Amino acid sequence: MQLENTNIILGITGGIAAYKTPDLVRKLVAKGANVRVVMTQSAKEFVSPLALQTVSGNPVSDDLLDKDAEAAMGHIELARWADKLLVAPATANFMAKLTHGLADDLLSTLCLATPAPICVAPAMNQQMWFAEATQANLKILEQRKIQFLGPAQGEQACGDVGPGRMLEPQEIADLLAQETLEQVLAGKRISITAGPTREEIDPVRYLSNHSSGKMGYALAIAAQELGATVTLISGPVNIPPPAKIQTVSVSSAQQMYDAVMQTTHNCDIFIACAAVADYRVQQKNHQKIKKSESELTLTFIKNPDILSDVAHLAQAPFTLGFAAETQNLREYAIGKLQRKKLNMIAANDVSDSTIGFNSEQNALSVFWSKGEKKLDIADKQLLAMQLMHLVAQRYTEDTND
Ligand code: PMT
Repeated sequence: MQLENTNIILGITGGIAAYKTPDLVRKLVAKGANVRVVMTQSAKEFVSPLALQTVSGNPVSDDLLDKDAEAAMGHIELARWADKLLVAPATANFMAKLTHGLADDLLSTLCLATPAPICVAPAMNQQMWFAEATQANLKILEQRKIQFLGPAQGEQACGDVGPGRMLEPQEIADLLAQETLEQVLAGKRISITAGPTREEIDPVRYLSNHSSGKMGYALAIAAQELGATVTLISGPVNIPPPAKIQTVSVSSAQQMYDAVMQTTHNCDIFIACAAVADYRVQQKNHQKIKKSESELTLTFIKNPDILSDVAHLAQAPFTLGFAAETQNLREYAIGKLQRKKLNMIAANDVSDSTIGFNSEQNALSVFWSKGEKKLDIADKQLLAMQLMHLVAQRYTEDTND
């Protein structure tokens, strides 16, 4: 929900890519934005105002001289309401109007009247994009700090191939969300463990747990969106590695330990979200164990405690551990915080099957030496963003102490 409470005017101009705008509105709304759509007359040839009104939940505006609209939210009021004005798709004609400051319809008037930053997602034939006039307009608009999202390369509606396609709705929404976020972790290197480990018993069997990696992966993405350089050390999961995050895949606790020690020596923050097996079999069988006896006894030995060893390094990073508990959440979590010498610990009650292991949602009680905070039940992505903000705050306070 990185666009929570952000007011966005989506200006739609008359290009074929306008048919994608109901999806763009849905993607922006899914990130928490309030969206009001403004259309040019020719945009209405490509997409219906009713569809846009339905997905945005707000009336669509298209007329500068609309008495009804002026009685409700007039164009100056609308211009002031916006935190951001996004024009998508923006035609070559619209770019030219913007360059020259024309104000002959509602959208171009809003562009002059709004104090909000303006973003433009161009969409046009590649020849029109390369045209000298369009390129000159682009230069002027960029000098005026108008932000360009795209265009993308590829096959165009007219059959040409080249730059001029509008970015996909998801890409536009992600780009807007990223820059709306304050980069509170800019310049920080963060290592995060995620997922389960597998402790092999013989060539066909292993000991593991129900961790899906969702919480750890959500943390890695949130940390990256807040400006950090992230290394993700992941046990075996069914989630694809996040784009642009260095991901090291491991299987056993010992492999996770080795990977962490190799990648963590120069990190600022270490987050242990993995559900690491505490024990492994003392002697792995090299052949499949046969069921000849009525009982089977295996001897387990302790795995290294990755989090505790990182926290006890001479140059230890800021450490955030997790505690998966089924009872006495507070007491056990604070015990781990102190025993492992951590800066923070986030505890989840895994006796509740709707949160924690392998679910879409989680709820966390976060503890540190001088305080605590509850993060109520929410999707793991949202919770990860809240937790990373808390980490950034605690990290800054601890390093300034
Ligand atoms: O992966 P998901 O399905 O999204 O589920 C998320 C989660 C429930 C796995 C996650 O939120 C969580 O609680 N992770 C920690 C699980 C755990 O192993 O907790 P613990 O209380 O046993 O361990 C305490 C801490 O020590 C953890 O930070 C753990 O990563 C770390 N540890 C434990 C043992 C070990 N040998 N090395 C470690 O680093």
